[in-house]
Amino acid sequence: MSTYMDAALTVLKASADPSRLRILALLHYGELAVSDLTRILRQSQPRVSRHLKILVDAGLVERHKEGAWVFFRLAEGELAGILRRMLDVLVPSDDPMLCGDIARLKDVQAERVSRANAYFEEHAAEWDEVRSLYISEREVEDAIIRHLLAQPIDALLDIGTGTGRILEVLGPHVGKAVGIDTSQEMLKLARTRLEAAELRNVQVRMGDMYALNGAAVFDAVVIHQVLHYAEEPQAAIAEAARVLRPGGRLLVADFAPHDKEFLREEHAHRRLGFPDRQVIEWMETAGLAASVAEQLHGSELTVTLWLGEKNEEEDKR
Ligand SMILES: C[S@@+](CC[C@H](N)C(=O)[O-])C[C@H]1O[C@@H](n2cnc3c(N)ncnc32)[C@H](O)[C@@H]1O
Repeated sequence: MSTYMDAALTVLKASADPSRLRILALLHYGELAVSDLTRILRQSQPRVSRHLKILVDAGLVERHKEGAWVFFRLAEGELAGILRRMLDVLVPSDDPMLCGDIARLKDVQAERVSRANAYFEEHAAEWDEVRSLYISEREVEDAIIRHLLAQPIDALLDIGTGTGRILEVLGPHVGKAVGIDTSQEMLKLARTRLEAAELRNVQVRMGDMYALNGAAVFDAVVIHQVLHYAEEPQAAIAEAARVLRPGGRLLVADFAPHDKEFLREEHAHRRLGFPDRQVIEWMETAGLAASVAEQLHGSELTVTLWLGEKNEEEDKR
């Protein structure tokens, strides 16, 4: 029997169950926690866990433990191609069961986003204090300056700009800079701060990191302390990479993996940091040559700076 036949049979056998097919269809949209799946499928946790185990054992799904939470996503291995092609046909689908699942998935995601948004609105004024709780922000900012300003920047984009601090730090050294954020409260504070700093080459506007405006025009994009709130960090990185000009650089600054579970509960963090391998893989998938630029160790948390550079010749998107 051919290898392809073997692989196809593995996919077909493991997915030959209505609940498992529903789980695969949902994971086609992005990774989910067990609690998300129990809500969407309206099935008990032991039942969902049993199905997930079968999918993981068959190599169709990967599990990723992060503190008290476990996330599941479609595998990237050799079975992935066959599985994704099958799911492309199934999803979007007019099947009432799958449509119901997907509608509930959107509800679960929307609820989480509105919880995070409420947090930002509530904490906008004190954000600068929150951001410096665990590590010296000055050190992180100096490292960002060191790595990004090693090359001249005409156009800079700051994604999830918050109170505009990164724009204030980098603004004086670049041609022009734009900061985007989904929170009106944050943008209000950023505007006030940037006006006070008299930075005329800098502007902020409402924008979503998953759907950035415009073409590949930026020499540098920064995502500082935003990714751990993201539902789909990989999609955010891909979108950031899309708006980089060939040769442009993406700098992501975020926590290394940690176990501060309360950040999830009290500060709406979705992720407790990111392993280097993960961020580098996301950057490479987005067409960037990626590496760890620097790690800054605080007493409680480590901040990592990952740098990705878009190929000079080909603009893949
Ligand atoms: C930790 S705060 C600000 C971080 C900021 N870069 C800094 O260095 O101070 C994260 C910001 O990400 C923003 N944010 C969350 N989801 C977003 C999205 N989908 N698109 C753009 N900004 C988003 C929040 O509104 C919030 O202002």
